[in-house]
Amino acid sequence: MQGAYERAYAEWRRDPEGFWRDAAREIAWYRSPTQIFTADGGPYGRWFADGETNTCYNCLDRHIADGRGGDTAVIYDSAISSTKRSYTFDDALREVNAIAVVLRRLGIQKRDRVVLYMPMVPEAIFSMLACARIGAVHSVVFGGFAANELASRIDDSEAKLIITASCGLEPGRVVPYKPLVDQALALAKVKPQHCLVLQRPQLTADLTAGRDLDFESLITDARGQDVECVSVKATDPLYILYTSGTTGQPKGVVRDNGGHMVALKWSMANIFGVRPGEVFWAASDIGWVVGHSYIVYAPLLSGVTTVVFEGKPIGTPDAGTYWRIVSEHRVRVLFTAPTAFRAIRREDSEGSFIRTYPMPEFRALFLAGERADPETLKWAERMLGVPVIDHWWQTETGWPMVANPLGIEQLPVKHGSPSVPMPGYDISVLDDAGHLVPSGTLGNIVVRLPLPPGCLPTLWKADERFRQAYLEEFPGYYKTADAGYVDEDGYLFIMSRTDDIINCAGHRLSTGAMEEVVATHPDVAECAVIGVADALKGQVPCGLLVLKKSVSRETHAIESEVVALIRDKIGPVACFRTAIAVDRLPKTRSGKILRGTMQKMADGLPWKMPATIDDPAVLEEIAAALRTRGFGGLPM
Ligand code: COA
Ligand code: AMP
Repeated sequence: MQGAYERAYAEWRRDPEGFWRDAAREIAWYRSPTQIFTADGGPYGRWFADGETNTCYNCLDRHIADGRGGDTAVIYDSAISSTKRSYTFDDALREVNAIAVVLRRLGIQKRDRVVLYMPMVPEAIFSMLACARIGAVHSVVFGGFAANELASRIDDSEAKLIITASCGLEPGRVVPYKPLVDQALALAKVKPQHCLVLQRPQLTADLTAGRDLDFESLITDARGQDVECVSVKATDPLYILYTSGTTGQPKGVVRDNGGHMVALKWSMANIFGVRPGEVFWAASDIGWVVGHSYIVYAPLLSGVTTVVFEGKPIGTPDAGTYWRIVSEHRVRVLFTAPTAFRAIRREDSEGSFIRTYPMPEFRALFLAGERADPETLKWAERMLGVPVIDHWWQTETGWPMVANPLGIEQLPVKHGSPSVPMPGYDISVLDDAGHLVPSGTLGNIVVRLPLPPGCLPTLWKADERFRQAYLEEFPGYYKTADAGYVDEDGYLFIMSRTDDIINCAGHRLSTGAMEEVVATHPDVAECAVIGVADALKGQVPCGLLVLKKSVSRETHAIESEVVALIRDKIGPVACFRTAIAVDRLPKTRSGKILRGTMQKMADGLPWKMPATIDDPAVLEEIAAALRTRGFGGLPM
C-alpha cells in the first residue's frame, strides 16, 4: 500500500499544475493566478504569471485580519548582548510600516534595489518586509563579508539605498560595520543615494552628512503611519541573494513573489510539520538562504512564530544556549547546520546541557547546509530523543529538494541520506555524457525542468549566465553541481560538489574566487586553493602558492600576507588560515592543476597518480609541504 509521502509525490507527478494550483490557494492574492505554469517566460518558464499579490501582506496583515494581531510573530534573543524582545504581528506591522514610510520618503519605488548589511537584529527582518511591502527588491549581504564583496553586490544590483547597523557582535568582539560600508561605497561604481544606519548601543558609528541617516530617529518619526501594500506580479522579484559561483563574481539568485510564497508555505506545513501559532527556530543568519526562507518568510507566511537569534552554538556563553532557547521560547522545531552540532558535541559530548533544560514540546531537529555526518546525526538522535532530519537544498532552490517530510509522514531515516525527493523535484543522476546511471552509481545530480515554484527563475540581469551555469550541460535538466547516488529505495546520498565550491561551517565558498584574490598578491606567480576536511567545519580552505622567482623575502611573511589578503578582500567568513609556499604545482600535461589529487592528499585519503601528470615528482613535494602543516599527506 502507498504511504502518504508516496501518494503526495504521485499526485504531484500526475498533475504538477493541479498540485501547485491547490497549494496557491493558501496564499492571499490581489488577482488569483489562472496561468499556473507558463513555459514561454524566462529561461525555463514562470509560475503564476498572471497572479498579483504582496509578500508582506501575506506575512503580517493577513494574520492580523484573521484576528491574530496579538499573537507573537518574532522573538529576538541575543545571547551576546543578553537582550530579549518579542513582537506580536501588530507590533511587527507597526515597525514595518514605519520603515516603509521612510523608504518612500527616501524615494524608493517598486523594483528599486535596497542592500541590507545587517547583524541579527529584528530591524533587519522588518526592513526586508518593508521592502516587500512597497515592491522594492532587497539584497541582504552577510556581515562576515568584506567591503569588496559588499561593493560587488551594490554594483551588480545597482542599489539605490543601503541599510546597515553600527556594528555586529561576535563572541568577545564588536565588529564595526560602518567602516566596511564606507569602504564598499568608495569602491563601488554605483553610488546609492543614502545609507540608513541603525546605531546599536555597543558602538556609535560616524555618519557622513548628506548621505548617512539615523535609522531610529527616522523610524520614530514615522511610527503610527501606514503604507498600503503594493500589488506586485507573482513573477516580480522579491529579493536578490548573491551566492558563490565558480568565479569571483557572485551569482545574483533571483526570487519571485508568488511562487516563493506558495512553495515556502507548503514546505512549512508538509516538510517541517509546523502549524500556525507554534514556534519555529532556524539558527542561521539572514545573510544566507536559510535565513531568508526559514527565519523570515516561511514561518511568517504560515503564521508561525520565528526566533531571531544572535549568537553561536558554543561560547555565547556555553554549549547550552540552543537548549536554553528551545526550552525558554517553547521551540517545536529547530533547523541548523551540522557544524553547529559538531561544535556542541565537542564541548558537551555527554549532553549534560541538554538535560539541564526541559524541552517537552520540542519535536524535531532539521539539519542542512552541508553533509550531515552520520556520527553527529546519531549523537543528536541519542541525546535529544526526537527525529533528526537531514535535508538537502541550495540557495538556488530556496526550499528543500530532498527531505524526510515530517508534516506528511515520517519515513525511515537512513543515516547519511537526506531521504527522498519532495513533490516538485524530479531528480536523476546522470553520467558526464548525460545518461541515467543505475541506482547505487555515483553521478551528477540533476532536476528535470521546470523547477518548481520558489526556485530561482534566473540570475539577476544575467539570463545567459543562468543558462550556461545551470541548463546547458544537461539539456532539459537543472544542474545542481552536487554529485551523489540514489539507492534501491529511492533515497539520495549527496557526496560532493562537482565544481570549486567548498562548504565551510555551513557557509558556501568558492575556492576559485579565493584563487583570484591570492593571485593579486605581487609575489605570487601561481596558486591553487583546495578544501581540506575539518572535523568541526566540514571543510576549510588551504592555499598553495608558487612564488615569483625574483622573490627573496621570507616565505612565511608572504604566507601571512596572503591570509590577511583573503580576510580583507573576501572576509573573515572565508576561514582562510593556511597558505603554504611550494616550489611548483602538480599539473597535467595540458597544464591543468591537479586540485582533486592534492585535496585527497591533504585529507589523508588514498590517491592515484594521474596518468596525465606532467611530472610525478611534484606530488611528493606537495605531500611533504602539506605534512609540515599537519595535513594528511599519506604516501601513494
Ligand atoms: N559578522 C562579522 N564577522 C563574522 C560574522 C558576522 N556576521 N560571522 C562570522 N564572522 C567571523 C567570525 O568572527 C570569525 O572571525 P575570526 O576569524 O576573527 O575568528 C570568522 O568569521 C569565521 O566565523 P565562523 O565560521 O562562525 O567560525 P567560528 O570559529 O567563530 O565558529 C561555529 C564556529 C561552528 C561555532 C560557527 O561557524 C557556527 O555556528 N556555524 C553554524 C553556521 C550556520 O548556522 N550556518 C548557516 C547555514 S544553515
Ligand atoms: P547553499 O547554497 O549555501 O545552501 O549551499 C548549497 C550546497 O550545500 C549544496 O549544493 C550542497 O553541496 C551542500 N548541502 C546543502 N545541504 C546538504 C545536505 N543535507 N547534505 C549534503 N550537502 C548539502
